[in-house]
Amino acid sequence: TKAPEAAGLAVTITAGPTREPLDPVRYLSNHSSGKMGYALAEAAAELGARVTLISGPVSLPCPAGVERLEVETAVEMHEAAQRLAPESDLFIGCAAVADYRAESAAEHKIKKVEGEEELVLRLVKNPDIIAAVAALPAEHRPLVVGFAAETRDLATYARDKLARKGLDMIVANDVSREGLGFGSDHNAALLLWRSGDGGVDQESLDPQPKREMAGAVIRRALACLARPPSR
Ligand code: PMT
Repeated sequence: TKAPEAAGLAVTITAGPTREPLDPVRYLSNHSSGKMGYALAEAAAELGARVTLISGPVSLPCPAGVERLEVETAVEMHEAAQRLAPESDLFIGCAAVADYRAESAAEHKIKKVEGEEELVLRLVKNPDIIAAVAALPAEHRPLVVGFAAETRDLATYARDKLARKGLDMIVANDVSREGLGFGSDHNAALLLWRSGDGGVDQESLDPQPKREMAGAVIRRALACLARPPSR
C-alpha cells in the first residue's frame, strides 16, 4: 500500500524517560532509551511532517529535520506538551513518564542518619500528560496516540487505557519480552484504534526493528487522521 503523505502536518512526539529529582545528586527514573520515540520522529519527518520531539534525558542525536525540546521532569514535559499540542495535528506520547515525583526535592544532598535503617520518601502524583492533551477542546485537539507498556494481558489493559485516557489510538507493547521494548532496537506491539463506527479495530505488529514499527504506527495514525471526524 502507498504511504499516505504527511506533508504539512504538525506532529509532536514525547520520548525517553523523565527524571524526578530527590536531591541535587539523585533522581527517580526508568530504563527508557528514547529509541522508540526517536524512531517515530524520524519516520514522521521522512513522510514530510513538521516534527517536534519533546525529549527526556537520552543519549541519542536529534534526527535530521526534527526540532527537539529537551526536558527533565514530567512537569516540564507536561508544560511543553500543553504548549505544543494545540498547534499539532498529531500527538504521540511515547515517553515513559514517571507516575510519581518526590513531594519536594531536598535542597541539599540527603544524608545517612546514624542508627536509622529506613528512609521514607513521600511521593506525589505527576500530571497525566497524554490524558490532558486528549481532554483539550475539540478545536485545539490533535489526534492522540498513546503507548501502553504492559507485562501481561496486553489487549485488556490497552483497551482500558485507550478508554480511560480518551485516546484515539494506542500502541501496546509487552515490555517483559526478551530483546524487545525498553532499550532494545526492536519492538512488537498490538495497535488498537477507534474505528469510525464507535468500535475498536486492531492490528498486531510482529517483532521488528523500531524504525520499521515506527513507520507502521505513523501510517496507521495518518489513516485515522484522514478519516472524517466522527471521533
Ligand atoms: O525508549 P525505549 O527504550 O525505546 O523504549 C520504548 C518504550 C518501551 C518506553 C515505549 O515503547 C513505551 O511503551 N512507552 C510508554 C511507556 C509508559 O510509560 O507506558 P504507560 O503504560 O505507563 O503509560 C501509558 C501512556 O500514558 C503512555 O503514552 C505514556 O506516555 C502516558 N503517560 C503516562 C503517565 C503520565 N504521567 N503521563 C503520560 O502521558
